[in-house]
Amino acid sequence: MRDAGLSDLLLEWYDREARVMPWRVSPKARRAGILPDPYRIWLSEVMLQQTTVAAVKDYYRRFTARWPGVADLAAARDADVMAEWAGLGYYARARNLLKAARAVVADHGGVFPGTRDGLLRLPGIGPYTASAVAAIAYDEPATVVDGNVERVMARLFAVQTPMPLAKPDLTALAASLTPDQRPGDYAQAVMDLGATICTPRNPACGICPVVQACVARRQGIQAELPRKVPK
Ligand code: ADE
Repeated sequence: MRDAGLSDLLLEWYDREARVMPWRVSPKARRAGILPDPYRIWLSEVMLQQTTVAAVKDYYRRFTARWPGVADLAAARDADVMAEWAGLGYYARARNLLKAARAVVADHGGVFPGTRDGLLRLPGIGPYTASAVAAIAYDEPATVVDGNVERVMARLFAVQTPMPLAKPDLTALAASLTPDQRPGDYAQAVMDLGATICTPRNPACGICPVVQACVARRQGIQAELPRKVPK
């Protein structure tokens, strides 16, 4: 089922071009066996929902300087966390963050559950976040699907079904590409590709590592995908 060629090309590209982010462990270090702290991946992924990487970086640095581990955050005063979150918006995210941090301490001895299924049982952690933490922090072959990944899949496979109807198909396509080897780097590679090359407008197909596999590009319709249900 899985297309080894595509995921290998994406991983090779990521080895060369991975963006540097304060929460990220480089592909070289990951190959040497270093995985990131799940607390830090979880925090970054929650912050990155509805907020750009550029905007998140400073917030992430302040949060982790003040609360370096999940137990530190669990012990924080609500008002202090809300004050550090101010400006990021979507304040329910900060309240859910605290709820989950306190559950990790109260119910799991301060250690994050080590699987996607375990993470999903925490309050305030949904399928996206559980998959992202499992893939990036545990190298579990979980499939991470955000808007970037949906756009990449819609174009690679020229999915004509409009959003949001296409979501299940795009998720299945993303799962079919997820490799058993280096799933964490793979997840980050697809997100980086969507953020930097396979952009919503004017995708940079000329420098895309998987252009030769892209059905939308072959048909000249890459900029039209993913389609949307007309309003
Ligand atoms: N957007 C959300 N999470 C991301 C990640 N881990 N890497 C790149 N872009 C992202």
